[in-house]
Amino acid sequence: MQSLVSITDFTKQDILRALERAAAFEVNPHQPLLNGKVIATLFFEPSTRTRLSFETAISRLGGRIIGFSDARSTSISKGETLKDTIMMVANYADLIVMRHPLEGAARYASEISRVPIINAGDGANQHPTQTLLDLYSIQKTQGKLNGINIAMVGDLKYGRTVHSLLQALSLFNAHFNFIAPQELAMPQEYRLLLESRGIAYEEHTDLAENIGEADIIYMTRVQRERFLDPMEYERVKNVYVLHNKMLNNTKPNVKILHPLPRVNEISADVDSNPKAYYFEQAGNGVFARMAAICMLLRL
Ligand code: CP
Repeated sequence: MQSLVSITDFTKQDILRALERAAAFEVNPHQPLLNGKVIATLFFEPSTRTRLSFETAISRLGGRIIGFSDARSTSISKGETLKDTIMMVANYADLIVMRHPLEGAARYASEISRVPIINAGDGANQHPTQTLLDLYSIQKTQGKLNGINIAMVGDLKYGRTVHSLLQALSLFNAHFNFIAPQELAMPQEYRLLLESRGIAYEEHTDLAENIGEADIIYMTRVQRERFLDPMEYERVKNVYVLHNKMLNNTKPNVKILHPLPRVNEISADVDSNPKAYYFEQAGNGVFARMAAICMLLRL
């Protein structure tokens, strides 16, 4: 039983196949491949894009959705465990999409569930379907995945989207430029992974001076919900704000991506710049998630 808990659960060939399928779904989104199937969406942590794009993907594929967007409305509030919740839902659904604040929760669920699990984000760990839509967005805008120069900006310590994306792009010979304050630097395990694969990376703390060579500027939010110390969050929350004028000396092909939601880190004056791509990126999530669901259900 295959689940998608980490992007490393997919081989490079699986990733390329997912992107091909996403492209086919974008051309023809109304394919009733999930007729008769029930998909559960269990969101133990807030979400707008991930949950709604999964539910759009399931609806477009003709499937039915059960689930919750607030665990307080479930028997978890009476003390039911994650194990019992997953065991129960696996009796009702053909596949479970799950977001949880604890790192490792989705892996644990995949070990006890008799139906596949898709990790829709587990704490600061992984967000593999975000990575599929990010790769799809990079491929669409740059015409290739190989050899991309990517600047990852902001909360690289707790940002599950950059962790998953780094692992995937390391298969495609990317050049990485990490732009973060020291407190939010890319964790050592990910830097060691790049070193073990002979992939180049740079680390900087200044934003404006270090985006001139980028094909992709991947902005991230400093996530208040990941900080144990509110004072530490206050110190770093507005450390980077991308303004329109900072894009003047960037490459003509550069695109700004952001998994969203944003708070202050991209100024609203960037939204109308053709280099901004974050809303289209979120739209691509529907096609990428259609592809992931069909691959896991072998449809
Ligand atoms: N990108 C992302 O995970 O957004 P949501 O938290 O709104 O799902």
